Amino acid sequence: MFKFIVFLFIPCVFGDATLSNRTFPDGFSFGTATAAYQIEGAWNEDGKGEQLWDWYTHTYPDKIDLGYNGDVACDSYHKWQEDIQILKDLGVQHYRLSISWSRILPNGTVNNINQKGIDYYINVLKTLKENNIEPMVTLYHWDLPIILHQMGGWTNPITAEYFAEYSRIAFKYFGEYVKTWITLNEPQSTCWGGYDSGSKAPGYTLAGLGLYECAYVHVLAHAKAYHIYDNEFRAQQKGRISIVIDSPWAEAASNSSEDVEAAQTEREFVLGLYANPIYLGNWPQVVIDNVATRSELEGFAQSRLPQFTQEQIDYINGTADFFGLNTYGTNLISHLNKPNENIGVPNYGLDKGTSSSVDPSWPSDVPWVHQVPWGFRKLLKYVYEQYNHPEIIVTENGWADKTGTLTDIDRQSYITQYLSALLDAYYEDGVNVTGYTVWSLLDNFEWTNGYTQKLGLVQVDFEDANRTRTPKDSYYWFQNVIKTKCLVEECL
Ligand code: BGC
Repeated sequence: MFKFIVFLFIPCVFGDATLSNRTFPDGFSFGTATAAYQIEGAWNEDGKGEQLWDWYTHTYPDKIDLGYNGDVACDSYHKWQEDIQILKDLGVQHYRLSISWSRILPNGTVNNINQKGIDYYINVLKTLKENNIEPMVTLYHWDLPIILHQMGGWTNPITAEYFAEYSRIAFKYFGEYVKTWITLNEPQSTCWGGYDSGSKAPGYTLAGLGLYECAYVHVLAHAKAYHIYDNEFRAQQKGRISIVIDSPWAEAASNSSEDVEAAQTEREFVLGLYANPIYLGNWPQVVIDNVATRSELEGFAQSRLPQFTQEQIDYINGTADFFGLNTYGTNLISHLNKPNENIGVPNYGLDKGTSSSVDPSWPSDVPWVHQVPWGFRKLLKYVYEQYNHPEIIVTENGWADKTGTLTDIDRQSYITQYLSALLDAYYEDGVNVTGYTVWSLLDNFEWTNGYTQKLGLVQVDFEDANRTRTPKDSYYWFQNVIKTKCLVEECL
């Protein structure tokens, strides 16, 4: 009865003239996403090794809202069968999940393989396949084996080597079940949060230096894994592989030429820093120029931006079979300074020379998600045109609220509007976007926000030892969208 009401009700609520009435194209893939540390729990069970976020949450509980950690999280390590049933009932075509590196390689290195960890993922992947759900597998979603962190983590190029070896193990054991691989999740968030602003583990503020080293090591690590897959596994396993890059849309705050230029510079520093080397070759020119100019004026002997050799540029360029895009909001960008102004301490924000704000009228319940569907459409078009028309898969998008309410009308509104913008990008702008993935299937451990921000289509009771799952209204609504391939009462 309840489901019946929701089906009839939702199209009326959001069925206004601004929503696209086009049908999602044949073959379009709907999915949801999670990540190992955010849902699995079992942090030290069955031989799993310690990783960065275990260490960070245990050592600095004060850095996480209410001192939470992911020791148990959604307990998906034990409840994975229930999760797959929930996915099956939802009707998704794909499920994006990540492998915990230290669950299969407790020390991060291939000299010690944990069979129990391998078995866990084989069971999950096999069961997904048996239920006609395509696994989309991320190799790294922020849970770096602790020893690699202790050796400098993403600022040490050796991490790229160990990541490549780990990826080979993953392709070898799991490749039979996986047709879509993602090497690394959101290097921008890792590098900015982990090594510049300090807002994510390991919480370092290596201003103006750490972020660029981290970007360099990420891009190398990705390319190595890509080539291993390409040379050793692709012919037999016939899958595809890429990286997931995250970015909000950067909209110029005004029509002034300075702000318009600043917005483009922002895109190059946030999105282009990671996408350029992989899709076009080398860093964006404006990043090379700005950091070189400022480094020199600051008295550095060389640019703070690591340089690629020509051999590396060629090795990295073209290492993606599609474009995995994560996005949540839009920012308004203004000009702040020219490259040769405000010289002092090294600073990534000053390297960009931009400042960022949001329009207070944009709907939002947490500071980092705003409902701006036109920004999403512009971002899709930009990525498509800027990076040589890649196939785009939206690998994460979703709405965060603080209450976790089951009657999550705001989440439905946000996703409806974003899916409508996606249809416009596809039909009106000709963008080849072939999939959409809601973050997240379950409410889960939301990094430094602990369990205080909720993004799931399914509520998880974190007070209950059983971690009871209850589908929200948005779950039933999304189920209907997947079934009808349509956002309004009747589609063309
Ligand atoms: C990350 C997820 C995270 C989500 C919401 C993305 O940055 O990939 O792990 O939970 O955004 O914050």
